[in-house]
Amino acid sequence: MDILHVSAECYPVAKAGGLGDVVGSLPRFQREKGHNAAVVMPMYRTPYLDSHQWELVHKSSTNLGQWTFDYSVIKEQSDTQGFPLYLLDINGLLDREKVYGYDDDTERFCAFQIAVVHWLNSWQQLPEIVHVHDHHAGLIPFMMQHCYAFKRLQEVRTILTIHNAQYQGAFGWDKTIYIPHWDSWKRGMLEWEGQINPLASAIKCCWKVTTVSNTYMNELRTMSNGLEPLFDYEKGKCTGILNGIDYAVWDPQEDKYIQDHFNSVNVQNGKAKNKKLLCDKFRLSIDKPLFIFIGRLVGEKGADLLPQVIKDSFRYIGRKMNFLVLGSGELETETRLKRLTSIAEEDYASYIGYNETLSHLMYAGADFLLMPSRVEPCGLNQLYAMRYGTIPLVRRTGGLIDTVIDMGDPDGYGISFNHTAVGDITHAIYRAVRLHAENETFSSLRQKIMALDFSWNMSADQYLSLYKSFD
Ligand code: ADP
Ligand code: GLC
Repeated sequence: MDILHVSAECYPVAKAGGLGDVVGSLPRFQREKGHNAAVVMPMYRTPYLDSHQWELVHKSSTNLGQWTFDYSVIKEQSDTQGFPLYLLDINGLLDREKVYGYDDDTERFCAFQIAVVHWLNSWQQLPEIVHVHDHHAGLIPFMMQHCYAFKRLQEVRTILTIHNAQYQGAFGWDKTIYIPHWDSWKRGMLEWEGQINPLASAIKCCWKVTTVSNTYMNELRTMSNGLEPLFDYEKGKCTGILNGIDYAVWDPQEDKYIQDHFNSVNVQNGKAKNKKLLCDKFRLSIDKPLFIFIGRLVGEKGADLLPQVIKDSFRYIGRKMNFLVLGSGELETETRLKRLTSIAEEDYASYIGYNETLSHLMYAGADFLLMPSRVEPCGLNQLYAMRYGTIPLVRRTGGLIDTVIDMGDPDGYGISFNHTAVGDITHAIYRAVRLHAENETFSSLRQKIMALDFSWNMSADQYLSLYKSFD
């Protein structure tokens, strides 16, 4: 089968979160299973661009409303990622350092999607599947089905994977001219609550919709930032497929970002060495259990509660643990986390920013990972943590329910709590500190989580059978 993934992120070219990890690995597993999967994404100005060789495969021009723009598609020459990787360049619009966060993001991603469909329309042999990810590629199914210029693409099957339904990319009808000519009576296929809503449009127009865990799929019907009735109405074409993780990148035995490698046999020693490096680097005391948080500092992740959780843990449990936070996001949370350094006694540190290398060292060196998410479609951090023998403390939501079983439950191995609330999180930390003191149980849980299988194998099969369900 020929499959084209369209995404705003793809690791290691450009990554802001888990979307990048998924799109950077799933196609490789689809190819290993004998399918011809490729990725197209915007050409940002990231270091990957300069450090790889590219060939020009297409050059043309098209329109965003009144504006005619040139675009080109380049392909990475040696398929370094294990699949053909195409970057779409629109001069001045996409070639910037960051993936998101510009005032003209609507124009950037509309132009990107129009150019992708325009390019696709020029292919001699069309792919069987166009697999779009999140709202940045959400207008593509509508354009393929309803724009006059792209009639040839009408029968190509489209799949939407929702990595996060909080973000929908909605914009006003004043920008309707961005979308190439279409029958105005199809307006309902673009609209949600009076706006053009790319995520809603993709849910309506795609042949199938998936999200990244079963529980999140169910949650979307009652909690999806305004799209609840739509998910309920379209439930027949929706499924949850849990993300896998890429063991070629996330393997404590081979990880290129860490120096001291380990496996489940020498985990004790291996983690101790990584922990020492971390503790030295951040002036943390080596003897106490180390709790880490890695992620976007936003409400969804419960990051706003971290400063109070840390203070309360010191106050009510005692100074028996270390905390290390890596993340960036909301300014207020960043500032509060920085200020907290003033109360640290070699037991708290933060790194505000994005740092891929540090994140690997943290998964490798920590004892526990905190994930007090309010919303978590799948969550990859807890999967990486477990792979590196770091016990996750998670709020029971979305993919965290599907991947972490509380150690008090049959076959359990992690720590789960019900609410994203300071008291619940602090109590989970208390349980973890006690667990850490029980050497044997703690070590056996470490071994257990390292042996869990969260590889892509099963999930990649599930995507393939979904594609085949169209036949
Ligand atoms: P989300 O996609 O919602 O941010 P996930 O758990 O799916 O959450 O994936 C987050 C990914 O981004 C993981 O690979 C995590 O290690 C990485 N990550 C998040 N924030 C940072 C950061 N500040 N520095 C390095 N890596 C980060
Ligand atoms: C999103 C979600 C996260 C998920 C990731 C990859 O960003 O917030 O839970 O793991 O996408 O699917």
